[in-house]
Amino acid sequence: MKEITACDVTAENGGGGGNRARSSGSHLLVRRDMQITMLFVGFGLLWLFLYNSTNLFGSPSFSHYFNDDESPKGNHDPTLESVLKSASMEDKTVIITTLNDAWAEPGSIFDLFLESFRLGNETQKLLNHLVVITWDQKAHARCLALHKHCHQLVSDNFTGEVFYMTPNYLNMMWKRTEFLGSILQMGFNFLFTDTDIMWLRDPFKEFYQDADFQIACDYFNGDSNDLNNWPNGGFKYVRSNTRTIWFYKFWVNSRNVDPKLNEQDMLNKIKMNPLISEIKLKIRFLSTSYFGGFCQASQDFNKVSTMHANCCVGLENKVNDLKILLWDWKKYMALSESEKKQSNLSWSVPQNCSTSFERAKQRKEN
Ligand SMILES: *[C@@H]1O[C@H](CO)[C@@H](O)[C@H](O)[C@H]1NC(C)=O
Ligand SMILES: *[C@@H]1O[C@H](CO)[C@@H](O)[C@H](O)[C@H]1NC(C)=O
Ligand SMILES: *[C@@H]1O[C@H](CO)[C@@H](O)[C@H](O)[C@H]1NC(C)=O
Ligand SMILES: *[C@@H]1O[C@H](CO)[C@@H](O)[C@H](O)[C@H]1NC(C)=O
Repeated sequence: MKEITACDVTAENGGGGGNRARSSGSHLLVRRDMQITMLFVGFGLLWLFLYNSTNLFGSPSFSHYFNDDESPKGNHDPTLESVLKSASMEDKTVIITTLNDAWAEPGSIFDLFLESFRLGNETQKLLNHLVVITWDQKAHARCLALHKHCHQLVSDNFTGEVFYMTPNYLNMMWKRTEFLGSILQMGFNFLFTDTDIMWLRDPFKEFYQDADFQIACDYFNGDSNDLNNWPNGGFKYVRSNTRTIWFYKFWVNSRNVDPKLNEQDMLNKIKMNPLISEIKLKIRFLSTSYFGGFCQASQDFNKVSTMHANCCVGLENKVNDLKILLWDWKKYMALSESEKKQSNLSWSVPQNCSTSFERAKQRKEN
């Protein structure tokens, strides 16, 4: 298995944010002895994290990553904490999704999401651990009508269909990342799932035991350690510890470096940053054989854990194709045990999703 060291990463990826952080910290990084250096940097980062310093290295580009003013602990919303507690598994893990009113409409994505837990194999019980974070009053009312753990975020107005890569979309995605960081600070591990992901089998059976941050991929290249995989922020399992708490701060603060990127593109940029391997954050990329989607489907119905309506824009396209996906799954579940083993079913989707980007582009041009 390929281990990625700080040196590999530097050699592969000299550019971007990595360079900036590296040159400013270079006096710390003269590596005669790698381990002492790592220890040094480790303490430096810990110090940075604890005292929230903006200026340790006296470099404006470095301090961009760390210039938040919020106090690291203490101001947690007690209502949120009690919702998390009541949904938590024994090991302080919660499943989290976010919802706005367009996706919460009857017959829309949220209904399909909940239905998938009921149709899936041993997934229904996981609903006990699902916390739905709602962006607005309407979504909140709908959540309360259907589910027992709902929490409304007091935030900007993310009502209606939020279109991909608009300013509202960017704010919503970044707000989400910041929020998930605060969950880690409260000591909870989380499995974040987009609501356009269908849960067909218990995903906890497929996770790596030793990883801090595990994330699904749009495209998986076969090596779960390879940082060149193309992750999708819509599904990630993160354990709460000092490394992940640091990492979420680093990720959220990186927005200042390039405000035009969404949180996922930023992740693709910072995943190579040497600081991340220096703090020894263990990142694993999840195989699309188990965690598939419309970009790269999970081929084997006997293995699939989740299927994501990724590589798709437009709420109607997603609803259309996810319904078909659940029909496919129902057909599979109706087979006998031996038929299941022998079956070579394949998905009938993506259909409308497969041309959704082109059609959206044409509509914009016309
Ligand atoms: C769920 O999966 C298990 C193990 O793969 C299998 O034995 C069981 O029959 C499945 N249940 C249903 C309802 O398909
Ligand atoms: C939120 O935005 C929607 C559409 O952009 C608008 O109709 C609604 O009045 C706004 N609500 C608030 C509370 O600002
Ligand atoms: C999906 O595509 C078909 C065929 O192109 C079209 O007739 C149908 O209206 C589309 N459905 C949705 C929900 O957009
Ligand atoms: C596999 O699929 C093909 C065509 O879809 C079908 O003819 C064949 O019987 C299937 N094999 C099994 C083992 O189900």
